[in-house]
Amino acid sequence: MNINSQTHSVMIAGAHGFTGSRAMEYYPEAVPVPGELLRNADHRLADFIRAAEPQIIINAAAVSDIGTCERNPEASYAANVTLPVILAGAARETGAKLISFSSDQVYTGLPESGPYREDSPLPVPANVYARHKLEAEQRVLDIAPDAVLLRAAWMYDMPLYRGTALPDSPGYAAPSPHANRGNFLITVLDAVLHGRPLSFSSRRYRGITYVRQAVSFLDQASRLPGGVYNYGSENDRNMLETAKALLRELGLEYPVQDSGLVQHNLWMDCSRIRRLGIDFDTTVQGFRRCISDYGLRNLPG
Ligand SMILES: NC(=O)c1ccc[n+]([C@@H]2O[C@H](COP(=O)([O-])OP(=O)(O)OC[C@H]3O[C@@H](n4cnc5c(N)ncnc54)[C@H](OP(=O)(O)O)[C@@H]3O)[C@@H](O)[C@H]2O)c1
Repeated sequence: MNINSQTHSVMIAGAHGFTGSRAMEYYPEAVPVPGELLRNADHRLADFIRAAEPQIIINAAAVSDIGTCERNPEASYAANVTLPVILAGAARETGAKLISFSSDQVYTGLPESGPYREDSPLPVPANVYARHKLEAEQRVLDIAPDAVLLRAAWMYDMPLYRGTALPDSPGYAAPSPHANRGNFLITVLDAVLHGRPLSFSSRRYRGITYVRQAVSFLDQASRLPGGVYNYGSENDRNMLETAKALLRELGLEYPVQDSGLVQHNLWMDCSRIRRLGIDFDTTVQGFRRCISDYGLRNLPG
């Protein structure tokens, strides 16, 4: 049961993004923060929050594309640091519980190969996006020690159609491009559907997480003590084996090459939230859940 959507008022920043749009479906009564207030985050955003008096603020807004952040660090700083800092100030003032998404990318500076725990002392991360995410975690907790910062793993889902209306039906409005951003499942399905080569590295490890499960745990996340949490599915397979496992679960036979690329691992040890009652599927169990939700097994060829 979706307890908080019935008993608490929820506000969502980034309501049109990949995660935020699924959170809006999960919390149909939630108040979305208007995009204009997010993009020019100042006292008007704090005024908006004071007026709405939410009990829970979910911050899924970000400039989340790593390349965009490298090219435009000012835009990254505004969305990934200044915005959560303003939300933290408003949350402290109004007594709202802030849940703000961070990223597994904060671990990119660690020399060890993982899986990573929250208590690892973190060197400076390797990219602008991750540096800003890490700074935001620290600054948000300085302002609002009760805030919950979720270091999310790489998330996936099938494309979203707004509401129940399909593209060729009258009430259809196209979702924001962010809502249907590329993800692991879509990359694999797209390659199979179009006969394109598929390659992943046997030398890289990363948790891959079904976003619907990540969103379904936000109720419980709102009851966590303030702090930083690894948040997603654990995965002990390398990326090549993970892609093969997804194809097996889909009932598809398709070749996957080993790219052999050496990239920083991003797998996380999620035992801290598990001990607090948030027990994610493993990555492969998550595939099964998603495939079952969408009836994707043995798609007609
Ligand atoms: N998706 C993943 O696999 C993943 C993995 C790890 C961590 N995360 C983190 O999880 C959170 C949600 O990610 P996501 O993939 O759902 O993000 P997303 O799809 O990129 O959506 C980001 C949202 O932020 C809004 N936004 C874009 N530019 C903005 C700006 N300059 N200022 C304020 N808001 C802006 C977008 O609004 P419009 O749609 O109106 O343009 C959109 O609603 C982010 O904090 C991200 O860093 C995501």
